[in-house]
Parts: sequence; C-alpha cells; structure tokens
Amino acid sequence: MQPMRKVYIETYGCQMNVSDTEVVFAILAAHGYEKTEDINRADVIMANTCSVRDNAEQRILGRIEQFNLQRKARPGVVVGILGCMAERMKEALLDTRKVDIVAGPDSYRSLPQLIEAAWGGGTAINTELSRTETYHDIKPLRTSASGVSAFISIMRGCNNVCSYCVVPYTRGVERSRDAHSIVREACECFESGFREVTLLGQNVDSYLWTAADGSTVNFAQLVQMVAQVSPLLRVRFSTSNPQDISNELLEVMAANPNVCRHIHLPVQSGSNRILEKMRRRYTREWYLERVRAIRAKVPGCSITTDVIAGFCSETEEDHAQTLSLFDEVGFDTAFMFYYSERPGTLAARKYPDDVPLDIKTRRLEEIIALQNRKSLEAYKADIGKRFEVLVEGPSKKGTSQDGVRQLCGRASNNKMCVWEDTTHNSGDYVTVEIISCTQATLLGRLIE
Ligand code: SAH
Ligand code: SF4
Ligand code: F3S
Repeated sequence: MQPMRKVYIETYGCQMNVSDTEVVFAILAAHGYEKTEDINRADVIMANTCSVRDNAEQRILGRIEQFNLQRKARPGVVVGILGCMAERMKEALLDTRKVDIVAGPDSYRSLPQLIEAAWGGGTAINTELSRTETYHDIKPLRTSASGVSAFISIMRGCNNVCSYCVVPYTRGVERSRDAHSIVREACECFESGFREVTLLGQNVDSYLWTAADGSTVNFAQLVQMVAQVSPLLRVRFSTSNPQDISNELLEVMAANPNVCRHIHLPVQSGSNRILEKMRRRYTREWYLERVRAIRAKVPGCSITTDVIAGFCSETEEDHAQTLSLFDEVGFDTAFMFYYSERPGTLAARKYPDDVPLDIKTRRLEEIIALQNRKSLEAYKADIGKRFEVLVEGPSKKGTSQDGVRQLCGRASNNKMCVWEDTTHNSGDYVTVEIISCTQATLLGRLIE
C-alpha cells in the first residue's frame, strides 16, 4: 500500500476561510490524503488566502516564496493557492512559476483531480464560480484546537456591492444553504462534544432558503431552529448587516438564552456622505436606531464593529463623524482598518484613492485611541456581574500569579474571561463573577 499523502494548509482571512479549510480537509481525506501540521513533511502545501486588503495579499506572496523553497528542495512537493486570492489573481499566480495549483472558493470538490494533474507534471487551475455550490453535504474535518466551538457556513458569496469591497468578485453571488443540512450539522457538532456553533455568512440577515415545496426559511427562523438543537449548545453568528438585521431576529435572540448576546455590526463610517459613496445601504441615523433596538430588545447584548478610515474623498469633517459615532455607540470592540484600494472594485474604477497614507494612518490611530478607551469602559461596566462562561481551556498564561491553574472562556457577550479553577474542563459551563479587567479580558472568580 502507498503511504498516505500529507497535506499542509495555512489559512488566512476571515472565519469563512477557516470553515472552508475544514471542508477542503474533508474532501481530501475522502481521497486518501492526511492532514499534517508539519510543512517539512507535506507532499501538498497550500494556503487558503484573502484579498480583502493589499497587505493581506503581500503577506501571502511572501509565503509563496517560502513554499517555493520547499518545492525546490523536495521533488514531488506541489504548492497550491486556494481562496479569494486564487479567484482574484487566477493565472497570474501560475505565471510566478512558484505555484502548481490555483483553486477558487467554489472549486474545492475538484482539488483531488487538480492535485493529481499537478503531480503529472503540469499546472492546474479551477476558478469557476458557482451559483449553487454550498458544500452542504460535506462534513467538515474540524480543526478547532479546543473542540468546543465550531464554525458552520450557512451561505456563500455576497449580493451587495459595497464599493470598496473585493468579496463579491472573489466569492460570487449569494446562495443560502439547505436549512436542514445546517441543523443536522449543528446536531452532529453537539453530539461530538462541541458546545458552541457560529453560523457564518457575509450578510447572514439575507439568508433565505427555499425548500423543494416552495416553503422558505429566513435567518431568524434558522437561528430559532439551531437554538432548539439543545439548550446547552450556544449559537453565535456573523456578519450582520445594519441594513438587513431584523426585529424578528432580535426577538428570537431575546426568547432563546443560548443565542449569544453579541452582534457584530460593521458600520464602516459615521458619515452619511461616505456611507453613500461606499454603497452601504443605510445612514448613520438608521445605524444608531438599530443599535437602540438591539439594546432595548436584547439587554446586555454587546455590539462590535468594523470601520474603514480614509476612504476616497473622506474629509476631516467625515472623519469627525466617525469619531462621534464611536463615542456615541460605545462599541465593546472594533476591527479598524485604513482604506486599501482593491483592483476591479467600483471604488477603484470610479473614485481616486485620494487620502494620503499619512492622513489615513493618523485618522486610524485616532479611531483606535478612542476605541481603546471605549473598550476599557465597556469591560469595566461588567465588573461585579456574574456570567455563565463556556470553558475553552487553559488561559494563555496557564496559571495565576499564585501558581493556581487558570482557565479561559467566553461569556455570552463574547468577552474573554479568565479565572482560577482547578476542577473544570473545556466544554463545561461555569459561573464567574467579574472582579477586574483589561480592555480585552475580564478577570473573574469562580462561583460554581
Ligand atoms: N461582509 C462583511 C465584511 C467582510 S470584509 C460586512 O459586510 O460587514 C471585513 C471587513 O474588512 C469589512 O467590514 C471592512 O471593514 C474591511 N474591508 C473590506 N474591504 C476593505 C478595503 N478595501 N480596505 C480596507 N478595509 C476593508
Ligand atoms: Fe463586502 Fe459589503 Fe458584501 Fe460585506 S456586504 S462582503 S463589505 S460587499
Ligand atoms: Fe478575505 Fe475572502 Fe474572507 S477576501 S475576508 S478571505 S471572504
């Protein structure tokens, strides 16, 4: 018998890519491949890549150089590029002569053939996008370290055309996955020990699945279905779109304590003029109203966001609007970026990238400084509260200053908690009372 061929995959970009890598491993496992964490022993070396900002792509181009050293040193090793950058750059990646396989996000079922072709001595490429592929029948090979939390893709692609964003071009049109296959996957996760699932999509609120008999399931209904798998299974989701997030969803959250108290609601800018140019389909006022609705209907719900500093034509006044929105909302945390022009997007074609880099950076730093203060405030507000925490495992340090074993895990509001604990294990639920904090961690003591 031939020894199993070993595959090594590095994953970049968003949670969707993490989830896709698990699908890729499952497809390859069914064809006699085995996963390895050791690049030096891999027969197939792959990167699942991201194109969302230029620096994400630059990092991967650097990694390709490293992969190529392996490829030269060990005959028979093939290198593959998967994901969004494969889709965006296509043949240009093969032209580097450092890559053997290029496979876009909808082509993973063909990977075994692509790898065979590369071993045959050629190059192999499939960047066909699909209107229907959701990999609904593939049981992902879970890679999460703790075995507590799993990602479940509920849809693929995106039908929005936010003018700065490359995702619709790399991921294709939006399609929703069979609701029953999602619930089945959540059940299987629970039965194999997972205690949390995160439902993934670029715009989860526009999830809409139509069954063969014409009946439909929307996102709020899907969350309700998954929440019913078990009261011990936590349900998270990402990403919500301010335009589409519905009161129906907020009501499902309110009615189901196992649906976690956290909504990631990317705002991108606080200026209506910029939001319009970004082709986001909401205003600052609409966004603030959604924040109020979340806080009224789902008390204790944390709200996090994404923001882009220095988009085309952004003025100091626009930037001040973003700062004032951040001040007004008080996000629990935020992912903050400066604008990076992406080839082929509407913004790249229509608007000059005219905010100089030093100004983009300064504005970004101002947002970060403000958000750091706001995060600390939001974390401090939890001192004295008791939370049910799902144990993930040992804390980063492993032990407290006194040498006592320390565990970590998230509260429902997604904040990471750390506490001394000698009795519990990952997957347990514990109650922790918060006694202090940093701007990114709650420190607590075990109540039960
Ligand atoms: N589907 C999600 C976002 C996916 S991309 C949504 O609609 O919110 C993740 C984040 O990357 C975006 O929210 C945005 O803040 C950022 N981003 C996307 N394109 C960018 C670009 N060209 N430059 C800088 N940041 C960008
Ligand atoms: Fe990109 Fe907008 Fe789609 Fe999000 S909703 S993936 S930002 S186009
Ligand atoms: Fe990046 Fe593609 Fe995700 S561009 S953010 S990996 S959808």
